[in-house]
Amino acid sequence: MSFSRRHILSVGATGLAAAMATAPKSLAQTQQPVAPAITVNLQGASADKVVLITGATSGIGKTTAEAFASQGAKVFFCGRRENLGAQVEQGIRAMGGEATYRRADVRNAREMQAFVEACVAKYGRLDIAFNNAGIDYPPAPTADTKVEEFDDLMNTNARGVFLGMKYEIPHLLKTGKGVIINMASIGGQRAFPNIIGYGASKAAVIHMTKMAAQEYGTLRINAVSPGTINTPMLDRVKRDWQVTEEQLVAPYPMQRVGQASEVANLVLWLASDAASYISGGQFSVDGGGLG
Ligand SMILES: NC(=O)c1ccc[n+]([C@@H]2O[C@H](COP(=O)([O-])OP(=O)(O)OC[C@H]3O[C@@H](n4cnc5c(N)ncnc54)[C@H](OP(=O)(O)O)[C@@H]3O)[C@@H](O)[C@H]2O)c1
Repeated sequence: MSFSRRHILSVGATGLAAAMATAPKSLAQTQQPVAPAITVNLQGASADKVVLITGATSGIGKTTAEAFASQGAKVFFCGRRENLGAQVEQGIRAMGGEATYRRADVRNAREMQAFVEACVAKYGRLDIAFNNAGIDYPPAPTADTKVEEFDDLMNTNARGVFLGMKYEIPHLLKTGKGVIINMASIGGQRAFPNIIGYGASKAAVIHMTKMAAQEYGTLRINAVSPGTINTPMLDRVKRDWQVTEEQLVAPYPMQRVGQASEVANLVLWLASDAASYISGGQFSVDGGGLG
């Protein structure tokens, strides 16, 4: 049995690790692997982690909160709609998970600081933060965009992420290997018309992510950029833009909307030790590379 380059390419890295494990003893003893054995296994990767999520009363945040809780994490989350927050918390507890909702508006510095402090007071520390909360507004060209709407987009989507990181980082540094994942969008990577506030706020998220990663080398700070994901926000987009789902997905090679769980999978992976050498990046989850 030999490990030619062709063989490695054909079996892939995990295939190689498996092959090494079952290789004849003499070979395993003489041939040292160039990297540690690959142990990617997300089952249990989040067990006992304390995870803070902004905007988990619906959509991607809710699904990600459920996913982390199903893996044994303790989830502390916010959103402004208290009835939905209580429902999400109860739903997770009914599944046997651990979650706590606290109302907080990410635009408000005092509320964000109190939210982060309350998480640490409740669960003792902070390991992972997912700054996800975000809003959209109906499309308009720049000259027709309302100043209040532009300000709200920047305050929620960009300032909210800044405030999150500002108050999370001191606690994450205490763990020695804290993780932040910020919610961007393909709208922050590519210049789409008629969403100047949304696009600018998400571009700011990507840039802030890279800057913070430069500042804190012991943390891992990354951004995710979804394409068109099936959430209440997408329902609003279809209504406000007066477009069908087919029209929305037409430019995407995969020709379908993504599911919130497909974003959650990326977030959980980035949060896990499997992504231990990844920081300062931004990762598209958009069905084929529009970003
Ligand atoms: N769906 C997509 O196609 C798509 C694509 C790219 C990026 N994204 C981004 O993904 C994130 C989640 O969006 P979604 O699609 O899941 O939409 P969603 O269902 O509308 O969820 C948005 C979440 O953000 C929370 N939120 C909004 N403003 C807030 C504020 N001021 N303070 C605290 N929480 C706030 C909402 O909670 P409350 O209303 O209860 O406050 C809700 O939980 C957003 O940042 C969005 O820009 C979505």
